[in-house]
Amino acid sequence: MTSALRREYLAAMGLESWVVRQPSGAGAPPIMAATASVAQALRPATGFEVAADAVAKPGALHREAGFDWAQLRERVAACTRCGLSATRTQTVFGVGNLQAQWLIVGEAPGADEDRAGEPFVGRAGQLLNAMLRAIGLPREQVYIANTLKCRPPQNRDPQPNETAECFPFLERQIELLKPKIMLVVGRIAAHNLLRTEVSLSRLRQQVHLFGASRIPLVVTYHPAYLLRTPSDKRKAWEDLKFAREVSARG
Ligand code: URA
Repeated sequence: MTSALRREYLAAMGLESWVVRQPSGAGAPPIMAATASVAQALRPATGFEVAADAVAKPGALHREAGFDWAQLRERVAACTRCGLSATRTQTVFGVGNLQAQWLIVGEAPGADEDRAGEPFVGRAGQLLNAMLRAIGLPREQVYIANTLKCRPPQNRDPQPNETAECFPFLERQIELLKPKIMLVVGRIAAHNLLRTEVSLSRLRQQVHLFGASRIPLVVTYHPAYLLRTPSDKRKAWEDLKFAREVSARG
């Protein structure tokens, strides 16, 4: 990507004056699962913190195991497992390139997404697109999904039973896609995927490992939050560069 083009994308993120540093050299050690003490020891040498808390144990088979993309899409569209099925306009399955190396995971559809049937199409989606383009990833090149496939009324936080019922759909999407990296936007999605309540500020800038196949997972701010708090866009940009480095090492 030319520097002029990158400047344009950074401007779209609201980061006009940023100097883009290249990812550091190829000599750094690979990302690895680690115990807390190893993670501590790695920090100065690699620049990556490897989160010990998120190293997943191999899980039991979930409800959606074995379904292919088409079957899964149909099952989501027909789902009535929680009360959100009564208030949705339509389900929002996910969108993108089925060969994508990057999976972006958000929280739940909002009003625009509920209308369009596609994740991240509203203002937050426009910012997400700009954030991705700033690291050289057009939206068409990634896969985008949410932890919930239906809009919670008035965009309230998902309730535990809604998340529990919906989560196997995302688990199956992850198994089918086999992403090289997951970029998780926002506290709620991060908490659901990492099964933690640690604050977002402590989850970012670390490599978490998701699931039995230990997919590198990086957390950053939700674009809707960044629209309300533009001063944190700088930190989001650091997270995006961090994710790009993690992916480049994979
Ligand atoms: N916010 C999300 O988390 N997901 C969407 O699809 C839209 C807004």
